[in-house]
Amino acid sequence: MTSPFRLDGQTVLISGAGGGIGASLVQAFRDAGAKVSGADQDAAMLSHLDLDNSVTFDLADANATSAAISAYLDEHGTPNIVVSNAGFTRAETLDHLDNAIWQSELAINLNGAYAMTAPIIAAMAERGSGNLVFISSVNGLAHYGNPAYSAAKAGLIAYAKAIAVERGANGIRANVIAPGSVRTPAWDHRLAANPRLLDNVLPHYPLGRMVLPMEVANAAVFLASAAAAGITGTVLPVDAGLTAGNLRFVDEVLKGR
Ligand SMILES: NC(=O)c1ccc[n+]([C@@H]2O[C@H](COP(=O)([O-])OP(=O)(O)OC[C@H]3O[C@@H](n4cnc5c(N)ncnc54)[C@H](O)[C@@H]3O)[C@@H](O)[C@H]2O)c1
Repeated sequence: MTSPFRLDGQTVLISGAGGGIGASLVQAFRDAGAKVSGADQDAAMLSHLDLDNSVTFDLADANATSAAISAYLDEHGTPNIVVSNAGFTRAETLDHLDNAIWQSELAINLNGAYAMTAPIIAAMAERGSGNLVFISSVNGLAHYGNPAYSAAKAGLIAYAKAIAVERGANGIRANVIAPGSVRTPAWDHRLAANPRLLDNVLPHYPLGRMVLPMEVANAAVFLASAAAAGITGTVLPVDAGLTAGNLRFVDEVLKGR
């Protein structure tokens, strides 16, 4: 009997495939037996990956993204699974925001995810089956900095719930993963400014470490698989315990360390 955790013969489209979590998503879905399409900003970001095919677009340009996806669907058919994983932020606090930056971070992280997935969801609904996993963030659940990005990540949760509720009758499931801090290229600019920054990160995490890219990827495989057939519209933190409570409060206030 085939394990419900396997994805043999299924097709998956992964955005941000060339990034840190993206590369682990490609590997995890391939290991589960899926055929993997990778999406990213340019082909060079995907050249090192083991992909069945690829598509490139800039999520900041919603119309170009939808057009690229339509062409992709015409050429490769409608995927069984989409992992909306691409993301970007630089504005760390409210002090770094202005109208242009706010709009840019919303455009990439929220509007782009809509532009990419809406045509696919329409095709999935016509077929009567489909599965979406959105990579949001703990920032979509509570404030940990990066306010514009966080608003977009909270928006992804609302969007996934809308899909779950309104397209469930079409056989479509949509779920969200909220990762905590993962050491990927997304942290390079912070570590360049402060090479010892990770020492400040770890005391916040009950597991005493950051999350590994493959831990996010394995959760995505689970949510996309038949093992999660009864799960839709949920948010799964993969956060080494960050959102379970306030470890530093316990350590510094109650234990007096
Ligand atoms: N690394 C973390 O600590 C962390 C924590 C929580 C959530 N996340 C989320 O996980 C996802 C993957 O992040 P990562 O850590 O692998 O970062 P990363 O920077 O390594 O990868 C991000 C990917 O998104 C792509 N991308 C960015 N802007 C794009 C655009 N305009 N158009 C198309 N593609 C674009 C990049 O090219 C890259 O491939 C993101 O959505 C991120 O917000 C990351």
